Amino acid sequence: TAPAVTPRFRPAIHFTARDTWLNDPNGLVFHDGLYHLFFQNNPFGSVWGNMSWGHATSTDLLQWTEHPVAIAGDETEDIFSGSVVVDHGNTSEFGSIESPALVAVYTSAFKAGTIHSGTQAQSLAYSTDGGMTWRKYDQNPVLTRNSEHFRDPKVFRYEGPQGSFWVMVAVEAQQQKVVFYRSDDLKTWDFLSHFGPANADAGEWECPDLFPLAVDGDPGNTAWVLIVNVNPGAVAGGSGGQYFVGQFDGVRFLPDAGSLAAPTGLSSIADAEAAAAAMQQCLWLDWGRDCYASVSFSDAPDNRRIIIGWMNNWDYANQLPTAPWRSSMTLARELRLSSVSGATRLVQHPVLGEAKEELSETGSFELGSEALRLPDAFPGRAQVIQAEIKPGTAERVEVKLLASPDGSQGTVLSYTTSNSRLTLDRTRSGDTTFHEKFASAESAPVALEDGVLKLLIIVDQSSVEVFAQDGTVVLTDLVFPGANSQENWLAAEGGTATVLKLAVSSLA
Ligand code: FRU
Repeated sequence: TAPAVTPRFRPAIHFTARDTWLNDPNGLVFHDGLYHLFFQNNPFGSVWGNMSWGHATSTDLLQWTEHPVAIAGDETEDIFSGSVVVDHGNTSEFGSIESPALVAVYTSAFKAGTIHSGTQAQSLAYSTDGGMTWRKYDQNPVLTRNSEHFRDPKVFRYEGPQGSFWVMVAVEAQQQKVVFYRSDDLKTWDFLSHFGPANADAGEWECPDLFPLAVDGDPGNTAWVLIVNVNPGAVAGGSGGQYFVGQFDGVRFLPDAGSLAAPTGLSSIADAEAAAAAMQQCLWLDWGRDCYASVSFSDAPDNRRIIIGWMNNWDYANQLPTAPWRSSMTLARELRLSSVSGATRLVQHPVLGEAKEELSETGSFELGSEALRLPDAFPGRAQVIQAEIKPGTAERVEVKLLASPDGSQGTVLSYTTSNSRLTLDRTRSGDTTFHEKFASAESAPVALEDGVLKLLIIVDQSSVEVFAQDGTVVLTDLVFPGANSQENWLAAEGGTATVLKLAVSSLA
């Protein structure tokens, strides 16, 4: 029998497929006024399988329209993750200069009994109608290493001292290696170099990305960011995203010494305590349980660098208690590079648009153990909570989200002053029993700035995304609260905190 449908868990501003399974975002591209989101999709079910590229578009990154499957798996191949570029120069000759083709570079996971049986290789598909319909290239695959674990190509146009050409960043997943190739026409690829293992290397390396960003907005000072998703072995357990900061010279990626917590990989550190400490030093895109396979848009407007992740974790992905769909994407997040105590680090800002409706905004007041109730969200809408709090003498500041009227249930975000850690605890957040690994509490080190903790929290039916200290630390967790668990509360324990600013608004 089909599971009962769960409309109350359907997010308002996060993409879900109407009634099927999804995993990684694929082929993120902005073209002709539309953001395209392709995604790993099972067109025939709500668990992983029959991998194909689903398709959705949006003008604001908040409201999405789902379209028919773009690239379908068949009896020879599953269509695994990859990227899309707009071929402005018509280098592939799939389109024209006036009307450039969109070219998808995806992984063919070849099925048993086919000519490339059991290998993963890179293939092309192209669209000459702005991404709505796709044709597979008749000479696929275009790049093979005769490997069983070579996948997730991210392609971008390199312009620099070495010239102007396409670069592909992909992985040898089990070897924990990123591999770099170059091409003039997207069809013939030459090996450039590889990177890894380094930092978190406990599991497979998947879904890489590489792009330059101005440091502190200074166009004369550019650094390159290499994103490497890992599963398992992420900081909160299971799957998650790490990044490295460095330089890419058109051939190889050279990480800054400061972004290497473990140059030859955490698994090379024999001492368990030292390995755990190095894990905390790795650069994490997100410290929560549910942000994986984050990659960025090609051709985003105004040179912005915007990523979307899969809001899930392979630990329990196939068991999430939703129907008829399963899984959603994170909010789109704009990335910047910023100098943080002498090091270059990513900061992330969720793309929230203009559709905010303010419910309340309050100035400075003292907060003690008597909890303050925040205004309720409009039913079915997402909610944004912004707070600037001086913990002062308090031992702990707590924001309790999606709490039941009797207080026994809720998702608790708390800051502990003694160890300077921000913790997101979903152990009492409603349904946690569908998988033994789901009930969890995640925490990240967060330094106060002039004694102040800044929080931006987005709550949407079945998720909590926390951006702390202007996006320097991010925590994302799924939650499946009970039907009556809708109250949000703020309190301080063991002393008095000062709330400098508190704003609550409703979205979309
Ligand atoms: C990451 C991943 C990719 C692969 C895809 C298959 O979640 O395992 O490496 O291409 O999912 O669905």
